[in-house]
Amino acid sequence: MLRAMQVQPLLSSIEFGARVTGVDLGSMDDDTFAEFEAAANRYAVLVVPDQIMDDSTQLAFSRRLGPLETTILEDSVAHGFSPEIAHLGNMDASGQCHAADSRKVVYDRGNRSWHSDSSFKTVPAKFSILSARILPGEGGGTEFADSRAGYDTWTGGKHGIDKEDLVDEICAHSIIYSRMRNTGDIFNESEKSTLPGSRQRLIRRHPGTGRRNFYVGSHAAYIEGWEEERSRELLDELIDWCVLPERVYSHTWTEGDVVLWDNRRVMHRGKEWPEGEYIRVMHRSTVAGDAASIDEPN
Ligand code: OGA
Ligand code: MN
Repeated sequence: MLRAMQVQPLLSSIEFGARVTGVDLGSMDDDTFAEFEAAANRYAVLVVPDQIMDDSTQLAFSRRLGPLETTILEDSVAHGFSPEIAHLGNMDASGQCHAADSRKVVYDRGNRSWHSDSSFKTVPAKFSILSARILPGEGGGTEFADSRAGYDTWTGGKHGIDKEDLVDEICAHSIIYSRMRNTGDIFNESEKSTLPGSRQRLIRRHPGTGRRNFYVGSHAAYIEGWEEERSRELLDELIDWCVLPERVYSHTWTEGDVVLWDNRRVMHRGKEWPEGEYIRVMHRSTVAGDAASIDEPN
């Protein structure tokens, strides 16, 4: 007998993160799916344990949430994988750990800085769905920060900046910038030519809840029209504020876990693990957004 879906909040102080049980993501009926989608809107991070996920199940479930993004890495597709699944991990073609300085490992390390997926695309991602396929013996957790709680509680920072004065600011985002800053020059010229970057609102109103958040993260390079140092300082300050421990849910992965998050109001980052010792493989599908943030009302 199927149990009804249960949604238990993960944090008591803020409405952020919930654990969803009694559900099989691969075979939800329409009513259950509608409930699940409502929970995603409300809690922004959903942890769903005990799922049996292969790529086709993951893609079928993800497509119910909307059209999917395709990966920006050329070699991923060259290996015959679906372009709609992003492979994160350090396993090479023979099942061994990739070398610590391999392009793939270095590229994935960029995920260790707080970010919002695809904010460097004109229409950035809505949901990301991450399925744990091979877990390391230690480390390799994922952290999620509530940028809405960051916005709600902002008190002005070092320079006493009123958030109302920031509502019209536009930020330039680029993954070439963020990888250059965090991991070094990782893209080939052909990839670079497909990654022009994007313009995003600094303060974004979440379409599902009507509430604002600071839409920042590692891809945010500068605020348009601001002096460079001042812009970098404020962006760092906003990120640091949003990721204070009281706004963070830290996930320790268990086999069978699927975690979904809403990139329109969540920043996340992967945590390190002994990469030379343990394999970690995660498969991500990414639901495309509906609009460029600059075209959304704020
Ligand atoms: C991602 C990501 C972090 C992790 O899948 O978008 O940033 O813990 N993952 O693998
Ligand atoms: Mn990510």
